[in-house]
Amino acid sequence: MRTFAIVNRKGGVGKTTTAVNLAYVLATSCQQRVLLVDADGQANATQILPKGEYAGLGALLRGYVMCYDELTVHTDVEGLDMIPAAEDLWALDLEAAGGDRNRVYRAIRDMREAMEEDDAYDVMIIDCPPNLSAACVSAILASDAVIIPVLSDACSATGVGELIDQIASMRSLHPGLRVSGILINQWHRSPVVEDSVAYLREESLAPVYDTVIRRTDKVPESSWARVAVQEYSPWCSAARDYRAWVAELLVKEGMINE
Ligand SMILES: Nc1ncnc2c1ncn2[C@@H]1O[C@H](COP(=O)(O)OP(=O)(O)OP(=O)(O)O)[C@@H](O)[C@H]1O
Ligand SMILES: [Mg+2]
Repeated sequence: MRTFAIVNRKGGVGKTTTAVNLAYVLATSCQQRVLLVDADGQANATQILPKGEYAGLGALLRGYVMCYDELTVHTDVEGLDMIPAAEDLWALDLEAAGGDRNRVYRAIRDMREAMEEDDAYDVMIIDCPPNLSAACVSAILASDAVIIPVLSDACSATGVGELIDQIASMRSLHPGLRVSGILINQWHRSPVVEDSVAYLREESLAPVYDTVIRRTDKVPESSWARVAVQEYSPWCSAARDYRAWVAELLVKEGMINE
C-alpha cells in the first residue's frame, strides 16, 4: 500500500483540497482502493462525509481503538473510504506532552502494517494539519513520501526550505522517508507568481511537479458543497489540473508505466 502525507505548516495552501482530489481521482479514474485519513482537528476533509458521530483518528492515536475497520467509513464514492477527524485531535498534543508520545507517533504506521497484511487498500492519503502536531508526525512517519502543496507567492516559496529540512530531520526515525514533490497551487498569471514558481523550480531542495493547479472559484464553491471539485465541476481548470497531476504523480512514483 502506498501512503502519502499531504503536509505544509502554512495554513490555507491547499492540503485538504489536494488530499480530497487525489483520493477522488485515484478511486474513480484509476480504480484504486483508497483510504483518506483526516489528521487535522479542523476536520475539513471530513466534510465530504454526511454529518454524524464517528470514532475518528483520535481514538486510534489515543489507543482506544486497535482495529482499523472500527474507524473506516464508506463514502458515497465507490472505492473511497475515510477515517474522519474530530475536534478531539486538538487536545491530543497536550495529552501526548505528558503521556506516551512515541505510541502516538507509531499509531498510524502500526495501522498501515495491519492494512497491508489484510491487503485492505491500494493507497492511503493523509491530510495533515498546518503544524507539526503529534498527529502530523504520526502521519509522516507512516508515509512513503510527503507531498507539499504551496501557494504560488513569494512568502510560501521561501518557507518551503525550512519544511524540507524538518522532514529530513525525521529520517532518523524513518530512514526511507522521501519528499515526493512540491505542488504549486492557486497558480494564476502574474509577475510575482511567475517569479516565485521560477525560484521554487531553481532553488528547491525537492522536486517540483511539472503540473500546477490553477486558481478558480470552483474550488471554494466545491468546499461549500462538501464535495471534491472533481465532482462539483469536473471540467473546471483545477479539476483538470488535478487529474493531470495525478497522472504525473503515478508515473513519478512508479505506480504505472509512462
Ligand atoms: N486551486 C484553488 N483555487 C481557488 N481556491 C482554492 C484552490 N485551492 C484551494 N483553494 C481554497 O483555499 C482555501 C484553503 O484550501 P485548503 O483548505 O485546501 O487549504 P489547507 O492547506 O488544507 O488549509 P489548512 O491549513 O487550514 O488545513 C479553501 O477555501 C479552498 O477552497
Ligand atoms: Mg486543511
